[in-house]
Parts: sequence; C-alpha cells; structure tokens
Amino acid sequence: MIEYRPLRIALLGAGSVGGQVARLLLENKNELAARVGAELELIGIAVRDLNGKRDSAIPRELLTTDAEALIMTADIVIEVMGGIEPARTLIRQALLAGADVITANKALLANHSTELFDVAEQVGAQLYYEAAVAAAIPIIRPLRESLAGDKVIRIMGIVNGSTNYILDRMDSEGLSLEAAMVEATDLGYLEADPKLDVEGYDAAQKIAILASLAFHTEVDLNSVHREGITSITPAQIASARENGYVIKLLAVCEKIEADEDGEAGVSARVYPALIPREHPLASVRKAFNAVFVEAEAAGELMFYGAGAGGSQTASAVLGDLVSAAKRHVIGGPGLADSAHADLPTLPISRITTSYQIALEVKDQPGVLAEVANIFATHNVSVETVEQSIANKRQNPTAQLLIGTHDAKDSALTAVVQALSSSKVVDSITSVIRVEGN
Ligand code: NDP
Ligand code: HSE
Repeated sequence: MIEYRPLRIALLGAGSVGGQVARLLLENKNELAARVGAELELIGIAVRDLNGKRDSAIPRELLTTDAEALIMTADIVIEVMGGIEPARTLIRQALLAGADVITANKALLANHSTELFDVAEQVGAQLYYEAAVAAAIPIIRPLRESLAGDKVIRIMGIVNGSTNYILDRMDSEGLSLEAAMVEATDLGYLEADPKLDVEGYDAAQKIAILASLAFHTEVDLNSVHREGITSITPAQIASARENGYVIKLLAVCEKIEADEDGEAGVSARVYPALIPREHPLASVRKAFNAVFVEAEAAGELMFYGAGAGGSQTASAVLGDLVSAAKRHVIGGPGLADSAHADLPTLPISRITTSYQIALEVKDQPGVLAEVANIFATHNVSVETVEQSIANKRQNPTAQLLIGTHDAKDSALTAVVQALSSSKVVDSITSVIRVEGN
C-alpha cells in the first residue's frame, strides 16, 4: 500500500540516456510506485534546446532550460546531461539542497568524485552512479555492497565497448584499425571525440572509479597509466591469433604490496594486452563489456553485458532511482563510500606482468646469445622463443617472438630499451603485455 507522499524527480538531460529514463519512468509509473512505496513524480526535464527533436514519449510540458530552478524542489535529481559544467555545479547544489543525486557521468566522477562525495556526506544525502561504469552491467553495487565484507585483489575489465568492437573486427575479419573505426563510427559506437575511446581516456575514467571503490581509496585520474589501441596493427592481431591469444583493451586495477621499490599502493592502468583465447574475457565480442573481479574469499567473478546504449544505461539509472526512493521512504542518511585506506596510486613501473616482444635480428652466429644476455642482465626470465627466417638468400634476417615470465614492468622497459640500442637487433616490431595467463 502506498502511504508516503509522491517523490519529486528532476531529470537533467533528455538525450540518448535521459530520453529512455523519462520513457521508462512514465511507462512503469505504477509498478515503480508499488516497488518503492511512493509515487515517483517526474517534475521536469532540463535540456538545452526546448525545440530539439525528442522521443514522442517525452511530454513537452515537462521540458525546461532552467535546470537550477528545477533541482531546487526535487527529492531526487538524475543527472544525465554529461560534461563537467554545469553538471558539477548542479549536482553540488542539488546535494546541498538535500536531494539525492543519481549520475551516469563517468567524466565528472573520475575528476571530481571526492568533492561531490564530501558534499553528499556533509548533508547526509547520497550520490548513486551505477550507470557511470559499464552502463547496464551491475558492477558498482556488487563492489559497494555485495563484496563489502570481502577483499578485492584485482579487477580486469573490458569497459569500453567501441574499442572492443574495433579489436574484435580486426581479429574476426582481418580489418585494418582504420576500417574497423569507420564501422564503429557508422554504428554510433564512438564518442563525439573518438580519442576518448581509442586513446583509452574513457576506460581510464572507468577504472579510476572502480579502483577507488574496490580499494577504499581516492584514485586520481591523472595517475592512471593509459595506452590506447591506435598503434595496434593487423600483424599483431594475426600473430596473437596464431599463438592462441586475442588482443583486448584492458582496464586493470590491483593492490600492490610494499617491496624494495617502494610503499604499498594501488595500480590503475589501461592498455591493449594479449589474453589467452580460453580466458573468460576473450569471449567478450562486439561492443560488449565485461568486468572480471578477483576477491580473496569470493574468488573469481565475471560481470558481463551491454556497456552502452540509451535503454541499457537507463536500466542502471532506474535501479539507482529505486534505491534512492526507498531510502527516502524508509529514512536514514546516505551511505558514503569509504576512502579510509588512503593509498597512493603507483606508477606503471611497480606492476608485475609479462611481455611478448617481436624482433627482427641479423641471422648470424651469436645473435641469440646476445639477445638472451640482454634479458638476463635485467633479470627478466625468457619463457618462450620462436624463430622464423626471412630473406634466406640475400641479407638474411630472423624474426624472433619472445615471451617472458612475469617481471617488474621497470625491468621489461629496460629490456626493450637495451634491445632497441643493440647492434644485433634491426627493429622491434611489437611489444605488448600479456594478462590473464
Ligand atoms: P546526449 O548528448 O545524448 O544527451 C545529453 C542531454 O543533456 C541532452 O538532452 C542535452 O540537451 C542535455 N544537456 C546537455 N548540456 C546541457 C545543459 N548545459 N543544460 C541543460 N541540458 C543540457 O548524452 P547521453 O544521453 O549519451 O549521455 C548522458 C550521460 O550518460 C553522459 O554523462 C554519458 O557519459 C553517460 N553515459 C552514456 C552512455 C550511452 O550509451 N549514451 C553509457 C553510459 C554513460 P539537448 O537535448 O537540448 O541538447
Ligand atoms: N564510449 C563508451 C564506450 C560509451 O565505447 O564504451 C559508454 O561509456
């Protein structure tokens, strides 16, 4: 039975996500009211252009360009306008006015979460953000609640759908990066500025959010190591395939213990890496996302689904809306995310990983020994070596594909530097990390 007063919901944005949030909120009004124990009354929708083309499900009379006035009378504010400003100021104002806020804005959270969470905590409101990472996939709530009593060891995710689509098309159809990017653009997968996707910025924002939550600390976006997919070649994709791997743009975070190189901390990074074709993340095709979590007691968990899309993202927003609305009905302050661990974000040199390095070397006596000596000098153990010979008659060269055992990234970087200045190495054709072995 519904006894509580109607809750006033303000929606900021009526684009791909906002349009679907409005539609679902209006279509499912009665069912949502029954679940929450209060009616959810959409009091207005802030947009830039009142005359813009909209889904016919959006009542024109709810549209306004005065977002500031709209939020002031709301119990819950949903921010799906994107960008830093005015979203940041509006969220601050809404929280300070006592509203709970739901946002899908990964760029804003990755840059200003501490400030916004602090404001929420001061006033006892709550900031919800399930949709900000991997859209429809529930990953924030599992980390925040289901795994709250466990210890997360590591998260490895495919959290950018457009780059996964591009790499998948290169792998499955042998397309060039450029051709696959054209397809992804035509399908509307890439951000307005494609650099955000292909240079790893979007994935870096998402892993900064996940790392902060998983390790109870503040992870600064500027400390996230970021490499994109723009230098991945069809030759690397083909070589990966021949050797039982697939290349994926991975977002990884993990806790690193203190060692001879420094204090304990968190590593958060984004880079293309080889993963074995039998690893669960290898089966994530097209524009899908997946997040693979390793926790001390729970073991390995994988969360899979659509990482973008209007209705998919709206599903996560509405999940947050029901939680926020129930809290209003039941009462009690918002729950802040804990940043008690206060760990530094460590440089990439502190991680331990393995590399696969492809080299072109002179086909002469002593070359292999010289190459092996470079690895040994830097304390990097070689796991596999494959050699093939080209130009057998004139100017013979050998291609070496060297896989290493796990080593410190700093040691692997030193190996690559030494190889690039070695007289026996003609060129280094590929250097790529290996994950999930
Ligand atoms: P859109 O660009 O489609 O929509 C943005 C909406 O916000 C538009 O209705 C726009 O108004 C309105 N808006 C923008 N700036 C202002 C402003 N200054 N004042 C008032 N209204 C404004 O974005 P999306 O719906 O795609 O994305 C929204 C958010 O969700 C972003 O933070 C994005 O990162 C996040 N997200 C999106 C996903 C997706 O698949 N699209 C997936 C996961 C997260 P108008 O219509 O008049 O231009
Ligand atoms: N550009 C993002 C992607 C959209 O490709 O995954 C969802 O955040």
